[in-house]
Amino acid sequence: MIRLLAILFVVLLASDLAAQTQLRFVTWRSEAAAVWEQLIADFETSHPGVKVVREVGPHSSTEFHDLVTQKLRNRDTEMDVFFMDVIWPAEFAAAGWALPLDEYFPVQQQKVFLEAPIQANRYGGRIFGVPLFVDAGMFYFRKDLLAKYNLPPPRTWPGLVEQAKLILAQERDPYLTGYSAQFKQYEGLVCNMMEFVMSNGAALWDGQNLKGTLHLAKAKEAVRFVRDQIVGAISHRGVLAYQEPESLALFTQGKAIFHRNWPYAWEVANDPQRSKVAGKVGIVPLPAFPGHKSVATLGGWQLGISRFSRKPQLAWQFIEYMTSEAVQKRIALHTGRGPARSTLYRDPGVLKKHPHFQARYETFTLAAPRPPTPVYQPLSNIMQRYFSSAIAIPDSNIDQLAQLASRDMDRVLDLLRGRGRP
Ligand code: GLC
Repeated sequence: MIRLLAILFVVLLASDLAAQTQLRFVTWRSEAAAVWEQLIADFETSHPGVKVVREVGPHSSTEFHDLVTQKLRNRDTEMDVFFMDVIWPAEFAAAGWALPLDEYFPVQQQKVFLEAPIQANRYGGRIFGVPLFVDAGMFYFRKDLLAKYNLPPPRTWPGLVEQAKLILAQERDPYLTGYSAQFKQYEGLVCNMMEFVMSNGAALWDGQNLKGTLHLAKAKEAVRFVRDQIVGAISHRGVLAYQEPESLALFTQGKAIFHRNWPYAWEVANDPQRSKVAGKVGIVPLPAFPGHKSVATLGGWQLGISRFSRKPQLAWQFIEYMTSEAVQKRIALHTGRGPARSTLYRDPGVLKKHPHFQARYETFTLAAPRPPTPVYQPLSNIMQRYFSSAIAIPDSNIDQLAQLASRDMDRVLDLLRGRGRP
């Protein structure tokens, strides 16, 4: 009897311990939270005894970065898996915060993913994250409004302004705005402004010579255009406070003619439960300045393992599951996010639901990365401050602000001199 009780005790203790196996996943709250919750619940079902504990951080990439890096600086052993913005792997690798994943994720496996996000996850010849989904800047427009005025989707930024002025003048709706995008001071602002700057033939900085370039004429011209022709002209100044969700809400409420966002906005904007403009939305590449090519910023999120995690094996099992073809397909189907695996852009089920994945495939594959570098964050902070003050103040001294931004960026870029790789 005593023996039986002892066995029972051991069994209970063991099952209790097994039930205690927690995997802490630091993530942000998605607009499609139920989809992610279901995916995690399915992982737990297939891994009895494992509980994925989610810590939900702020939605803004900049604020989320602060949360994750603070934990890493503190060598927090609680955090196992984290979301990584596509601009972070170089920083996390150089700091020794992200575990190299080569033994789990060999080159052969990497090949089935889109090339650009894989490149962004590589640093010093090793791989530090697995792409979960891919973002690229997309241009949304109101098909019904353009049809009403017999206009094709604009191909140039000045063309967009002209069309918006015409429609706004005719519609006489005080709540309608011309262009809704992400102009708040945070990482999204860099993504948006980079699309203007690069589609005018300029760059954020010169990665070869490690020099700031925002003070050059073409870059300033693009910034001036946003200040004078968009903010406070065809858009109300409220756009200066917008991140992705607010800018999308304006569009789905039918209060914006043109909208810039990532691919997930298609799913939301066409859902009659969540959008007043469902079925009236067109999607094309972003406009460019005359004589230049359209530029879409490459975005997207990866899964990485903390170097301080005590459960790297289990963490890998979770990442392997979340980035498997079946799960990526579910994410694409139910959240509208761009799959990281290239085969899904040819998957009949995915294409039926999201025909633009095929039509806009080039936008995904040719999207322009923010240059990968371990000092991306300080560079971004300078750019965020510069772009924000340049476009928010109507008579901002762009020449001077740009000069200062470039000088500050030079100082950060100087840190890279003498290293093998920027
Ligand atoms: C999206 C992109 C990410 C970008 C962020 C900016 O989440 O995937 O790469 O930095 O938006 O707001």
